[in-house]
Amino acid sequence: MIVEEERIRVLEGDWTPLSVAREIAADGVQEDPFYVMDVGEVVARYHQWRELMPRVEPFYAVKCNDDKLLVTTLAALGTGFDCASKAEIELVTSIGVRPERIIFANPAKMASHIKYAARMGVDVMTFDSETELMKIKQLMPHAQLVIRIRCDAASAQCPLGIKFGCDPVTEAPRLLKVAAVLGLEVIGVSFHVGSGASETAVYLRAIQYSRALFTLAASVGHSRMSLLDIGGGFPGGLHTSIQEVAVVINSALETYFGGSNVRVIAEPGRYFAAAAYTLAALVHAKRELPAKEESEPHTMYFINDGVYGSFNCVLYDHQQVVAQPLMPTSEKPQPCSVWGPTCDGLDCVLPTASLPPLRAGNWLAFRDMGAYTLPVASPFNGFPLPRVRAVIDRQLWLSLKNMWPLTESHFVVGSRMTGPQSPPASPPLTPPPQTEHAGVFVECALK
Ligand SMILES: Cc1ncc(COP(=O)(O)O)c(C=O)c1O
Repeated sequence: MIVEEERIRVLEGDWTPLSVAREIAADGVQEDPFYVMDVGEVVARYHQWRELMPRVEPFYAVKCNDDKLLVTTLAALGTGFDCASKAEIELVTSIGVRPERIIFANPAKMASHIKYAARMGVDVMTFDSETELMKIKQLMPHAQLVIRIRCDAASAQCPLGIKFGCDPVTEAPRLLKVAAVLGLEVIGVSFHVGSGASETAVYLRAIQYSRALFTLAASVGHSRMSLLDIGGGFPGGLHTSIQEVAVVINSALETYFGGSNVRVIAEPGRYFAAAAYTLAALVHAKRELPAKEESEPHTMYFINDGVYGSFNCVLYDHQQVVAQPLMPTSEKPQPCSVWGPTCDGLDCVLPTASLPPLRAGNWLAFRDMGAYTLPVASPFNGFPLPRVRAVIDRQLWLSLKNMWPLTESHFVVGSRMTGPQSPPASPPLTPPPQTEHAGVFVECALK
């Protein structure tokens, strides 16, 4: 059964995620923060990927955003999935994805998760240590193994090499031999250059190392080396592109794996998730700080989502989020800061920002909020997490509505994007009347 949150609204005419958010916010009933998820952005990104890197099959990294609608949309488009845990495998298989379309890409797996993968028929999994090989030998000796090597980008938003990946020169050869001695089958090599990598040449280096290990693995008895997994690290924001990195990857694949029938997959997370989600958060309070000797006057805005919620990405994913007033205004930006709703002083979304004057009851929008936000968020202090309102353009709906596992029942046609999103319905927030008179009245009373 498709529950309400899994439905996608079909929209006609001209719209953007911001105009949809405005429509939802304008009815005065919505109080909690919410996301607008643009399914079209995911579809466009899938097609762009296939066009720019036709040899590389994307296996979406579910950890990035496990929103069932996103996963279902990607399944309909035909991607595979990178799962890191039993729960992620459960999610992906629950929508009907076959286990062959899943790689268990966590080099340090829990025993019960390996057993679950074995039961579900998820045979392909990564490793980077001898301990993991021993565990797999005991729990799933028929697994098809992929050795994860370390090759770090010169800089990355979230480096991963510090935790995962064996050294391709000093460690990998021995591990490949140990696997062979244990009678385990290694079928490929994987790497992850770091999430939000800002160097593209790193893919060339990593593919070069992988080539050498394909040869070495074959020489120690792994005769069915057939999978290269180039991991994630691809940019996902609205104004980013994978054009440059695609040129590097295509050329490296041609040089080192040209003419071979090695299957090449990648594990993009951010690339598919980031730009599709726009967050709207409500300003529910503010404090004016007067000018001090060395600082200008400054306004603190309090919004109903913070670093314990969606903006955990500021702390954990090192994202630099950008706020904009949801309703357009021509007023001059002024120095301010934006804070989350909890009682913690750490709950600061933007320590320094510049925004036109806002009142309680105004909304802020944040684009590119789909990656490493929702799955990490907690309702700390009792503040509800944002719900997702998914939308799709009518033209795209016509071509997507019967692409399994999407079905007609996933879509809602012809109704407006209004109404509260979080049960129990909170009393409508009527912004306090912010007339000039109110200010004058308070000023007078103080005199
Ligand atoms: C094993 C693995 N694959 C893929 C990803 C997704 O990376 P990205 O979002 O940079 O594409 C991650 C992110 O941490 C990961 O750990």
